[in-house]
Amino acid sequence: MKAIVLAAGKGTRMRSEIPKVLHEILGRPMLGYVLDVLSAVGVKEPVVIVGSGGDQVCSFLKSDCALKKRRFSTALQREQKGTGHAVMMAKQVFAETREDVLIWPGDMPLLQVDTLERFMQEHRRTGAAVSVLSSLLPDPVGYGRILRSGGSFYAIREELDASESEKRVQEVNTGIYLFRADLLTSAIKKLKPSNAKQEYYLTDTIEILCREGHKIEAFPFAGAYEGKGINSKLDLSEAVRIMNKREIQKHMSQGVTIVSPDQTYIEPGVVIGADTIIYPWTYIETKVKIGSGCKIGPFAKIRSGSAVDDGAAIGSFVEVVRSHIGKRVNAKHLSYLGDAIVGDDTNIGAGTITANYDGKNKHKTRIGKNVLVGSDTVFVAPVVVEDDVRTGAGTVVTGGSRVRKGQIIVGVPHRLIQTKNLKKRKS
Ligand code: UD1
Ligand code: CA
Repeated sequence: MKAIVLAAGKGTRMRSEIPKVLHEILGRPMLGYVLDVLSAVGVKEPVVIVGSGGDQVCSFLKSDCALKKRRFSTALQREQKGTGHAVMMAKQVFAETREDVLIWPGDMPLLQVDTLERFMQEHRRTGAAVSVLSSLLPDPVGYGRILRSGGSFYAIREELDASESEKRVQEVNTGIYLFRADLLTSAIKKLKPSNAKQEYYLTDTIEILCREGHKIEAFPFAGAYEGKGINSKLDLSEAVRIMNKREIQKHMSQGVTIVSPDQTYIEPGVVIGADTIIYPWTYIETKVKIGSGCKIGPFAKIRSGSAVDDGAAIGSFVEVVRSHIGKRVNAKHLSYLGDAIVGDDTNIGAGTITANYDGKNKHKTRIGKNVLVGSDTVFVAPVVVEDDVRTGAGTVVTGGSRVRKGQIIVGVPHRLIQTKNLKKRKS
C-alpha cells in the first residue's frame, strides 16, 4: 500500500506562522501522529505533500524519521489549489503502481490503528475501487457530507456547496480514502475547480468514479473522537483533551491511580508502575519512566529523559528533567532537579536546586544514597556528593567539588564541619 499525506495547506484558521500540521498535541506535532499510525499499518515510505511552511515541515520530517529509523519522501505543491491538486503533485507515486493508495490529511491526527486496519480490511473484502472512511457526527458543520441514495454512496458534498437538506446529513468525510491506483490517476485528471472555493477538490473524484460505474464505498468506522480534523486552536485544544484522555485511561487500566484525570497531562511514551498515585496538576512528558508505589504531585513536572524509581515521592512544585531519582527518595517541595542522579533513600529538602547550566553547557549532579539535603541547598554542577552526606540549610555546594561519604557541610561556599561516624551502621 502506498500512502500520501496532505500537509501543504496554510492552515489559515489557525492564525499562525507555524504550518498547521506542526502544531503540537502533547509535545508531538500532529503530523507525527499520522506518521506513527502509517508506520504501524506497514507503510514503508509515505509521501508527504508539502507547500506552505514546507521548509519547517521538511525539517521536522527529517529529524523525526531519522530518530525513528523510518523513510519518507515529499512532493511540493507550490500553490495551494485544493486537496485534489495536492494529490496531483504526487502522481508519480500512483501512476505506475498496482498497490492501493491511501490518502490521509495531515490535520487528522486522532485516528487509531485498529480503525484504519478495519477500514483497510473492508476495502479489500468488498473489492471497492475507492473507499472513504466516514464518521457519524451529531454536529457535522464544516465537514464534507457523505451523500447516499437508497443507502448507496454516490458523492461527497462540501459544506459551502451543500443544499439545506444535504447539510442535515450527519455522516461526514474524514478525508481518509483508499483508491485503486489506476482509477485515482484517471479521476484526478478530470477534476475541475467549479465550486464555491474554486479549488480542485479530491472529494469530487467520488462522483466522477461513481458515474463511471465503479464500486465506491463509505465505511462509517471512525468514532466521533477519531474523525476530527484540526483546523483551529479550539480544535487543537480538543485534540489535546482526547489524546490525553486516551493516555490516562491506558495508565489507569494498568493500575496507576490518577486522582483527577482532567487536571493531569501525560504525553504518549510514558511508563508508570502500578500503585503509583498521580495527584492533580501534574505534567509528565514523553520518555519518562516512573516505578510503582510512587507519589507524584500535586503540581509536579516530570520532563523527558527522567526515571523515578519505586516508592519515590515527587511533590508540589518540583521539576525533574533528565534525571534518575532512586528508590524511596523524597523530593516533596519546591525543587529543580536537572541532569541529576539521586541515590536511594535520599531526602531532598524544600527549595533544593541543581544549578546545572553555566550559560553554555549543562553539567551533572551526582548525589549518593541516604543523603540528607538541607532546605535551600544549591548544587552548582558538576558536583559529586557521596553517600550519607548531610548539608545544612542554605548550603551552596560549589562547582567541581566532591563531598566525601558521611561529611556534614554548611554555608556559602560550603565548608566541612564534621564527618559522621558511620562504622556502626550497615552500609
Ligand atoms: C477536507 C475535505 C472534507 C472533509 C475534511 C475532513 C476536501 C475538499 N474536503 O476539508 O470533505 O470532511 O477535510 O477533515 O478535500 N491541503 C493541501 N493542499 C491544498 C489544500 C489542502 O495539502 O491545496 C491539505 C491541508 O494541509 C490539510 C488537508 O489537505 O492537511 C485538508 O485540507 P483542509 O483545507 O483542512 O480541508 P477541509 O476544509 O478540512
Ligand atoms: Ca481540515
